[in-house]
Amino acid sequence: MGNGRLPRASSGINWLIIRWAALFDFGIIQQVVGSETRVERLPLMQERRGGGQSGIDERNNWLKRYETTESRRIITVAGCKGGIGKSVIASALAIEAGRCGADVILVDADLGGPNLHTYLGIRQPERVISDFLSHCVANIEEVILDTEFPGVRLISGAGNVPSQANLKFAQKMKIIKAISSLRADLLIVDIGAGSSRDVMDFFSMTDGGILITTCEPASIINSYGFMKNVVYRRFGRAFRGKKHLVGLLERGMNPEADDGIPDIEKFLDELSELDTECWMEAKAILSDFRPGIIVNRAESAGEAGVDEKLKAIVKKYLSIEAECLGAIVEDIYVKAAARKMTPFSVLAPDCPAAQSIRRIAARLLDWSSIEAPIESRMG
Ligand SMILES: Nc1ncnc2c1ncn2[C@@H]1O[C@H](COP(=O)(O)OP(=O)(O)O)[C@@H](O)[C@H]1O
Ligand SMILES: [Mg+2]
Repeated sequence: MGNGRLPRASSGINWLIIRWAALFDFGIIQQVVGSETRVERLPLMQERRGGGQSGIDERNNWLKRYETTESRRIITVAGCKGGIGKSVIASALAIEAGRCGADVILVDADLGGPNLHTYLGIRQPERVISDFLSHCVANIEEVILDTEFPGVRLISGAGNVPSQANLKFAQKMKIIKAISSLRADLLIVDIGAGSSRDVMDFFSMTDGGILITTCEPASIINSYGFMKNVVYRRFGRAFRGKKHLVGLLERGMNPEADDGIPDIEKFLDELSELDTECWMEAKAILSDFRPGIIVNRAESAGEAGVDEKLKAIVKKYLSIEAECLGAIVEDIYVKAAARKMTPFSVLAPDCPAAQSIRRIAARLLDWSSIEAPIESRMG
């Protein structure tokens, strides 16, 4: 049996696999680097684009759901590095949701590399989030831009905003609170790459954030690390001021250390002995946290199945129930559309990536983890 520790960044794939074999349960290795896997197939919704009865039904479906739930449901979109498709996917999902009748606000909170506007064909956003941060405008509503896509509005992060690395805590909370107060059927928030505290706090505006990963082992390892960091960040915030838990949290966050704790089960065992109330809170945090996974840039249908593998890993080592939302293949139309500053689903509505986005959007519709921002995380 492995001890659940994950390797540090590496260059060679063989080295990675060997390290994984040494460090992980071998069954998981097989799952991660094994060959073909099942890829979920959901019904296509092509007829909706042409309108017709099923298109109307689908639109009504969206609207009915939004009527019965509190507005401003929120999806945060994260990924461990730049260039893996966060913005392209966030914008495509927004356009698809807008086309289905939802009132969507897309927010570019990737303040280190804001480019969301380019995927909506906007060269120079007239108003940007830094106008709000620098008090040029009083309310965040004043920086919302209309787009040419039905139902989709944008808050652009372009301009002179301190990068997330330097974002002051007060500024970050100001943005998070302001985003959370926005009224729309759906908020889609594109957050920065990596797993800095700022990124994790943006991601934690909701329990149902989406993590984009590619199929490369390094990306899967980083995605696992991201979820682990989110969990411990949430524990850290929930147990703030509990001095008797500081050492335990540190050992959990550093499984490679000599006294590191390899997985959440063992962390919970030790926590239950130290503090029953916090143990119950930790259990609640874990069961509430239901991240979604989207695999992007898959080269084949078989490769796309890595989301199931990542799901199995986070279940085993973090006791988290993730949801596989679907996969998007590497598609030349995505690149071509990006060059033209046009959404790929508009440039080539039947390209494989556009079909996947429709499937994923349909799946999101049924995803119970999309919810309103969580007020207790705003302070
Ligand atoms: N599925 C895909 N197929 C082909 N190219 C893709 C795909 N996803 C992303 N790309 C390319 O990667 C570029 C960067 O994507 P982007 O969404 O801006 O990354 P991020 O927001 O994660 O930094 C896109 O402009 C596009 O050229
Ligand atoms: Mg981006």
